[in-house]
Amino acid sequence: MATAERPPAASATTITFSVNGRGVEVVADGARRLSRILRDDLGLTGTKVGCDAGDCGACTVLLNGEPVCACLVPAGQVAGCEITTVEGLAQRSPVHDRLQRSFLSQGAAQCGACTPGMLVAATALLEKNASPAESEVMDAIGGVLCRCTGYRKIIRAILQAGTDASPISPSAGEAVGARLVRLDGKKKVEGTEIFGADEIPSGALGVRVVRSPYHRARFQFGDLQSFVGDHPGVDLILTAADVPGVDCYGVIPKFADQPVFAHREARYRGEAIAAIVGNAEVLESVDLAEFPVRWQELPPLRTIEEALEPNAPRIHDHRDNNVLVRGRVVCGDVDKALVEADVVVEGEFETGYVEHAYIEPEAGFARRVGDMIEIQACTQSPYMDRNDIAKILGMAPEKVRVIPTAVGGGFGSKLDLSVQPFTALAAWKLNRAVRMVYSRTESIVSTTKRHPAQMRLRAGATRDGKLTALDFSADFNTGAYSSWGPTVAGRVPVHASGPYRVANYRATTCAVHTNLVPAGAFRGFGVPQAAIAQEQIYDELADRVGMDRLEFRILNALEDHTPTVTGQVLGEGVGIRACFEALRTKWQAARASVARFNAAADGPLRRGVGVAGMWYGCGNTSLPNPSTVRIGLKCDGRIVLHQGAVDIGQGSNTVVTQICADAVGAPISQFDLVSGDTAITPDCGKTSASRQTFVTGKAAHMAGSRLRAEILKQAGACTCAKVEFGNGELIVTEDRSTKRLSLSQLPLDEHGYVITCEATFDPPITPLDENGQGIPYAVFGFGAHIAEVEVDRELGTVRVLKVTAAHDVGRAINPTLIEGQIEGGVAQGLGMALMEEFFPGKGENLHDYLIPSAGDVPEIESILIEDPSPIGPFGAKGIGEQAVIPTAPAILNAIHDAVGVRIRKVPATPDRVRAAILAKEQGEDRG
Ligand code: FES
Ligand code: FES
Repeated sequence: MATAERPPAASATTITFSVNGRGVEVVADGARRLSRILRDDLGLTGTKVGCDAGDCGACTVLLNGEPVCACLVPAGQVAGCEITTVEGLAQRSPVHDRLQRSFLSQGAAQCGACTPGMLVAATALLEKNASPAESEVMDAIGGVLCRCTGYRKIIRAILQAGTDASPISPSAGEAVGARLVRLDGKKKVEGTEIFGADEIPSGALGVRVVRSPYHRARFQFGDLQSFVGDHPGVDLILTAADVPGVDCYGVIPKFADQPVFAHREARYRGEAIAAIVGNAEVLESVDLAEFPVRWQELPPLRTIEEALEPNAPRIHDHRDNNVLVRGRVVCGDVDKALVEADVVVEGEFETGYVEHAYIEPEAGFARRVGDMIEIQACTQSPYMDRNDIAKILGMAPEKVRVIPTAVGGGFGSKLDLSVQPFTALAAWKLNRAVRMVYSRTESIVSTTKRHPAQMRLRAGATRDGKLTALDFSADFNTGAYSSWGPTVAGRVPVHASGPYRVANYRATTCAVHTNLVPAGAFRGFGVPQAAIAQEQIYDELADRVGMDRLEFRILNALEDHTPTVTGQVLGEGVGIRACFEALRTKWQAARASVARFNAAADGPLRRGVGVAGMWYGCGNTSLPNPSTVRIGLKCDGRIVLHQGAVDIGQGSNTVVTQICADAVGAPISQFDLVSGDTAITPDCGKTSASRQTFVTGKAAHMAGSRLRAEILKQAGACTCAKVEFGNGELIVTEDRSTKRLSLSQLPLDEHGYVITCEATFDPPITPLDENGQGIPYAVFGFGAHIAEVEVDRELGTVRVLKVTAAHDVGRAINPTLIEGQIEGGVAQGLGMALMEEFFPGKGENLHDYLIPSAGDVPEIESILIEDPSPIGPFGAKGIGEQAVIPTAPAILNAIHDAVGVRIRKVPATPDRVRAAILAKEQGEDRG
């Protein structure tokens, strides 16, 4: 029997139970959560904690064979019980091996944060029912949330757990296009992946941040030293006075405006004003109501209108009218074109805050190593973190090492700093390892959100459906700090036309500061909000000219060699028309189906079908955007790929390796992967803006091609020669002659390799002029979705029946991973359309803030179009952001198709849908 080593609490009792078939005895408070016992005391970190409140299911374990949320089970209740965690499933159940293989082959684990809980719930089901129906699978995993996959691949993996799922292992030169199992997948299904909260350095202290309870308030500290003295176990209190460097950070250096700790006035509810550092258990027991701070609440600016009032106080002194930044793209003469248009439609649309709701809350630790600070945390942007932490600590960037852990979902929010400055400051000051894990509430109140948007549009067309003009303007509530507000304001005007030819165009945007939580990057950088407006207006235009809504889009779709609204001529690889055309037969079938249903309906249910298109530029908007990849050939013949792109679940570890392998002409099995770590991988930029497959993939292709060229040069062989990688030698075959290069005799270079090649790729873009004209992106991805919905006219509820998604990905490097991105994007788009809205100060948990669960996500059919990019690696384009954009407008258009009401404020919650139906019945509807 194992005994957990942990100092006993005053109220501790000895609790004996069994974990994974092994007897354990812990001395613990009987009220202590089982999840804490498993993770902290027994080191079984496969059990994840996403909420500590029974809402997410990440902590699901088996208690006497039944799935339970370990965070809700008091340790005292498990005496004499049998607990099985993900680590023990293999020995417990013969179905588990099949489940693991099925999860891997189906691509059911993306970030992997939900995977242990899913596997436990699925095992419990399959032990009782070897051949469950789909509805039974959905019921079984209904309590486990996943934010990445859209559940469909998880459901498929469970249904197919009984079938053989042997992994594919492509031959040399055949990796691109293969449904390769993700290279980092094994640890995810074994529960051994290390996320931000999964490692605790010996003797690490904890940090607890004191945050503003008010949207806007001045504050004054009392006697901080006495507070420390009164709390044994508390070592230190940090405030703004303790920041040794520049107390101002931000993801875009030119707009950096955020302090680590507020100075005298908190600008939003949840802003940090101080941090208490000390023994982690002591910190948990500290009553923050006793913290010595006096607050003076001030009237906050909550809305864009309030913030733009001429007499409104400035949230940042140097920003007039609380305007962070404006964006603008203009071409042609939009006013004239609207006057001359045969048909003009106009409308206003509004969207709210959306929470990222990744399953892994922010976590990590920092420690001082000599004259360096080392930070291990979940992040999407290690090099950006490094630069900001160096600035905050007043040291050279080279003195900061950032080691990203596995990331349990990011979707844009983990581009910004979270735990890093608090842990780094404390570790630097105390020369002790310091760890921090955000609670779910802390994550929700303090991290960035999707920008709320207020959008106004006028669009004109000819009688025969040719789109002639679009006038678009949008204000975005960017919250208290800049974060990615400039990116949203700059990207939206480029994209608000949608993937259509619009000769006369004006799009203006404004990012406005308020005293609410900062809005930042969230999958699509504002484009999903713009698509909600533009795609609904285009439906109205199509209706007014009497055209089929899909045919209207096909008629106006961008094509090769036609100019975009920024004057960019994309040349080849414009696949939007192909996406729409791929949907045509499905659209017609769906239209016929809903017509039949509605004709026969005599109750409150009506069905509708909607379509929407999208385009999305891959990478930064008109800004440098480089990735550098290093590849080294070892003397044993193995190839080491140093790629710093952080895999947040989307699959860059796998996709970039597939690209590199085919560029070298070596099998995947020959590669060892070294992923993001600022000390050992070159900078591959941030994981955002659908840039990793395109930009880092291209750099990997270039580096791989150079390695192959160098090998051939050393062998004196031509470019068509075949290279085989043996143990310590290369075998180069050209025509009928074979040469053997012995690697062990070659000298090692500074990196320890016999050959090292490095390549940097920076997409060819140009700055935009004052009218937004130029080349903002080298490559765009395109897509279109059809949504079929059923609306209950009496309740206002909307059920999505099916989504069909066609995406032009240029070249499908790994179709399974691409489908996973599409399905996950559809689920997030569905949430945005129907249920997700965050109100600062309310519902700061996953109980009140609802995201789609398995039962909410319908069948999703993915259609992959491959219209190759002339620039992308093997023609590839991005897919991560693209996938989410068309879903919400397709659903909203389908609601209109079903019941004839236009939902102008998103999400289309039952109360809003019902109110719109009532207004229409009473003759008040404008839609
Ligand atoms: S951590 Fe237990 S349900 Fe979320
Ligand atoms: S894979 Fe499910 S939360 Fe990321």
